[in-house]
Amino acid sequence: MDNLESLRDEMLAAVNAAASLADLDEVRVAALGKKGRVTGLMKELGGLDPDARRARGQALNVVKDELAAALDARRQSLEDAALEAQLAAESLDVTLPARPDAQGMIHPISQTMDEVTAIFAQMGFTVAEGPEIEDDFHNFTALNIPPEHPARQMHDTFYLPEQADGSRYVLRTHTSPVQIRTMVGQKPPIRIVAPGRTYRCDSDMTHTPMFHQIEGLVIDKTTNFGHLKGCLIEFIETYFEVSNVPVRFRPSFFPFTEPSAEVDIGCSRKGGELHIGAGADWLEILGCGMVHPNVLIACGLDPAEYQGFAFGMGIERIAMLKYGIPDLRTFFDADLRWLRHYGFVPLDLPTVTGGLSR
Ligand code: PHE
Repeated sequence: MDNLESLRDEMLAAVNAAASLADLDEVRVAALGKKGRVTGLMKELGGLDPDARRARGQALNVVKDELAAALDARRQSLEDAALEAQLAAESLDVTLPARPDAQGMIHPISQTMDEVTAIFAQMGFTVAEGPEIEDDFHNFTALNIPPEHPARQMHDTFYLPEQADGSRYVLRTHTSPVQIRTMVGQKPPIRIVAPGRTYRCDSDMTHTPMFHQIEGLVIDKTTNFGHLKGCLIEFIETYFEVSNVPVRFRPSFFPFTEPSAEVDIGCSRKGGELHIGAGADWLEILGCGMVHPNVLIACGLDPAEYQGFAFGMGIERIAMLKYGIPDLRTFFDADLRWLRHYGFVPLDLPTVTGGLSR
């Protein structure tokens, strides 16, 4: 019997000494595997007489169970230790300050979109998005621009190849189709802004084939032109970070708004330098108006019940004005020296209370 005792002690010691899961498996095979030592002793039971066999069998089973339990416990503790070590190795000190020498800058377009959305978020707007490849309905027809309407020519549209049914997708020429998607998709009250890329087949000093706009849309039962004015004046003063900017609502035309206006802000250009604020000159910065009843109808809304306003603004334009960037095309040159000069520090997220631009 004592050879069983010593085998048990020897095997338990080996289990506890196993330093890795692989070592431990070797110990398991050596004890309990097909050719293992405990297994070998089991096989010898057949040669014993019945009484001795029962006693020996019981003793062997006790040792076998004990070893199996020890193997399990050891495996668990090795696995725990491995996990601990991994966690310790991969730990991050989240309380460390940000690296002051971080490489990379936020592009003025991204910065401006963040600033504008932060201002409108403060006023209770949410952000909506739509596809850059649009169908005719969303980009034109639902916006009260039927086929053959002269406004379609004004848009210098990029058309995609004809579909089997003769229709053609377009690269959206403005962010206004997001108005349609929003009104079709959700019930008023609606208060959204939609920033994103837009495309027109036009390229010169002041036009690039791809540019950015931000659309605004408010729909409920009572919103009127006074709200439109208040909202945009508030936006302009917050965005340009100057109070009492002269603002002018100049009557204009868009098929999807009635009445429509373009908004100019006061500026001065003395000595070739542009200053936002009181001065002799005006600069156009956005288009807006009360949503046309035909647009509401196209979206399944009853114009006798619902009304509201919309506006659309060029991001590059207001970025150039605020940050004194003289040439539109430089936005898309991917010139690192330009980006280092005009870019923004990544961790300074613009907020209305914390500061928009620093
Ligand atoms: N979509 C118009 C444009 O691209 C701007 C606009 C939007 C005007 C919403 C009025 C209302 O010029």
